[in-house]
Amino acid sequence: MSNPSAGISGAATKPQGSVWSEEAIADLMAAIDADYRRGSTALARSLRAKGHAISDKACERRLWRMGLASVRAREAMAETRRMQRTRGEASPFRPTPLAPTATAPEAPEADAVLVGGWRGLGRALEQTKLAMADVLPPHEDERTIVVKVTSDRPKPLLVISDCHLGSWFVDYRLMERITDEILSVPDLGLLVVGDQTQMAIKLRGVAEVSENAVPPKYQMAFLRSWVRELRDRIILSTWDNHASEREDLATGISAYEGVFVDEGIPFFPHIGHPDLVVGQQTYRTAVSHRFRGTANNCAGMRNYVRREYPECELIVQGDSHIPEIAQWIEGGRKKVAVNSGTIQSGLFSRRHFSLRTAAVFPVVTLDPVERIVTPYWSLAEYLRASGRA
Ligand SMILES: [Fe+2]
Ligand SMILES: [Fe+2]
Repeated sequence: MSNPSAGISGAATKPQGSVWSEEAIADLMAAIDADYRRGSTALARSLRAKGHAISDKACERRLWRMGLASVRAREAMAETRRMQRTRGEASPFRPTPLAPTATAPEAPEADAVLVGGWRGLGRALEQTKLAMADVLPPHEDERTIVVKVTSDRPKPLLVISDCHLGSWFVDYRLMERITDEILSVPDLGLLVVGDQTQMAIKLRGVAEVSENAVPPKYQMAFLRSWVRELRDRIILSTWDNHASEREDLATGISAYEGVFVDEGIPFFPHIGHPDLVVGQQTYRTAVSHRFRGTANNCAGMRNYVRREYPECELIVQGDSHIPEIAQWIEGGRKKVAVNSGTIQSGLFSRRHFSLRTAAVFPVVTLDPVERIVTPYWSLAEYLRASGRA
């Protein structure tokens, strides 16, 4: 067993390499068995308490490599292991998943194209993925975000998206007014859920591309300048279809994502499951630019919560340009879904969404003491209702 180095537990000192012995892996699995809800930080802490030199980051990567990054995966593994123990079977977890199974041939069969046959190529890819996991960051599908609170007052978060900066059809005076209103409420946080730039770069037609008022370079500069002004307010940001997805499709790299990541803002390049820690409470949250569903503008979020994330208490999206708020109870749990509006009204919007521009950016409050999520249609409504106007 290794002793923890001085750097492992200290936040300011960079860990000098983590040691994954078989004993450390066994203790990790035992820690997951004991409480699968613990994330990588808590699990790493428990390993260090047992004398293993494992940093938080190393634990996060290891969980990802083992397919145990999500709470649900850890829950499934813990349940599988519990059943195996009940039946007196060996642990189903193997730290080296590439070990040949009893049914796999020792020497992979060769064919004309693949020297090692399909098994050989599959194993080589798995080995490569394992090696890359040591140098590439894990998927950030879950993340704990501690939201700054300064009092016992419910924390207000404004949901904003679809500003389409750089489009001819945006009300820029309104954008300035909205931003000033945000800045005038010192404890207001922002959830930014996509389409903050126009980025008509898909080259599907003249009308669409003509909605760019300035080239993409200046649209990104516009966004970067806005984000820097609100840096301390933005709690998180997500992918979108106008910028990050189009950039990913065209080049595999997104300047839009970079604007947020460069400022240290948590960015979800796909659906995200952030746990928002507000005072004494932790709110299970789902965010994305859109969730699939068409019956109304909260239908996709309802579907998603029911099918994918029943523990979720708050779910947020943009994209529809028509705002909507829904509250319901499912399985005894209260749920709030929020879809934000837009300040743009271009040809596409007026054809596919609405003739009206619903410049509505709802606010949700998260209570730091009791588990309460409360939605409001606007910042003004929240301020009046909470006696702050
Ligand atoms: Fe949009
Ligand atoms: Fe969109």
